[in-house]
Amino acid sequence: MKTILVTGGAGFIGSHTCVELLNAGYEVVVLDNLINSKEASIDRIKEITGKDAKFYKTDLLDYEDTLKVFSENKIDAVIHFAGLKAVGESVEKPLAYYENNIGGTLNLLKAMKINGCKKIVFSSSATVYGVNNTVPYTEDMPTSATNPYGYTKVMIEQILKDIAFADKEWSVVSLRYFNPIGAHESGLIGENPKGIPNNLVPYIAQVALGKLASLRVFGNDYDTPDGTGVRDYIHVVDLAKGHLAALKYSDANKGFQPINLGTGKGSSVLEVAKAYEKACGKEIPVVITPRRAGDIAWSYADTTLAKKLLGWEAQSGLDKMCADSWNFTVKNPEGI
Ligand code: NAD
Ligand code: UFG
Repeated sequence: MKTILVTGGAGFIGSHTCVELLNAGYEVVVLDNLINSKEASIDRIKEITGKDAKFYKTDLLDYEDTLKVFSENKIDAVIHFAGLKAVGESVEKPLAYYENNIGGTLNLLKAMKINGCKKIVFSSSATVYGVNNTVPYTEDMPTSATNPYGYTKVMIEQILKDIAFADKEWSVVSLRYFNPIGAHESGLIGENPKGIPNNLVPYIAQVALGKLASLRVFGNDYDTPDGTGVRDYIHVVDLAKGHLAALKYSDANKGFQPINLGTGKGSSVLEVAKAYEKACGKEIPVVITPRRAGDIAWSYADTTLAKKLLGWEAQSGLDKMCADSWNFTVKNPEGI
């Protein structure tokens, strides 16, 4: 039985991926410093699967502690989610973002190398397509960024590419996620942002709960069908399953391979608000405000490569994503 180290496994996407890994018969070791999550999500993973994930409350910035996780477990491959992810915060605290995301990744890669573990699936982002490419985004497009968070993804991809070039035994899959939303069908795990959410669906969920008065729509003068921003929303469980497909791919293929994980379909802010209204049975009042700095009009994936290399395709549509988000929100109004 294969043992997978999941860094950031207590977080939103990591916890859903742990569920899929355990259900598929993998042994799972989670490394997380809980800076943006709670240990309770590890208990919830067990509640869903009936199986234990071994948990280390460890910071990747602590190299000795990270090494210890490898010396105490025979890790076959790593899925690397751990990182800070708030775009606005990264503009205010660039050093913290570069130190945590890049420093943490370097420590992880050194620990992997020393222990002869050379398979990694990395959480990259559609943000690496920057502002100069046109949709649908394909993996061969040039990468760039507009903020420190985005640059950490661009830089880590470069580091991973260099490692795979220097040592042909490495297998690196960099998964470029589009907009993950939704929650596990059980309502036991989901997205749990601290404070006022930055992202669209967690914000709408708070409006639906009555904790926030209305949705601020950041601009309705984009060159899109209804003037609001278009994104490729993907159900987090579909996304989690994409990681299992990437692990299988890395068993048979070496080198550096970026792959988009999206649905290939764009939805506007107003379409998402409407779908959420249907899911929660309440009105979501909207207020049009000026554009948010750094936002683009369109973002959606070309999903050809994921289908071809991974044999993976997203299954759920927007209605299911919103229904599962609402189910989680109602069951966990204060978060996990
Ligand atoms: P999350 O914040 O819920 O999960 C990240 C986890 O990493 C958290 O549990 C946090 O405690 C942990 N962590 C952070 N720094 C750490 C460190 N130094 N050592 C150990 N643990 C640490 O975020 P998520 O939404 O699950 O995202 C997971 C990954 O996917 C991130 O790398 C993120 O940048 C990337 N990503 C997310 C999205 C999105 O919209 N959610 C989109 C594209 C890419
Ligand atoms: N939006 C609003 N009101 C809000 C929040 C968002 O109108 O309160 C709009 C945005 O302007 C955008 C859309 O909803 O048009 C989606 O915004 P999100 O903040 O949910 O997502 P982004 O596409 O801006 O960015 C997200 C992550 C990034 C990641 C990117 C691609 O936050 O980290 O997806 O994966 F890089």
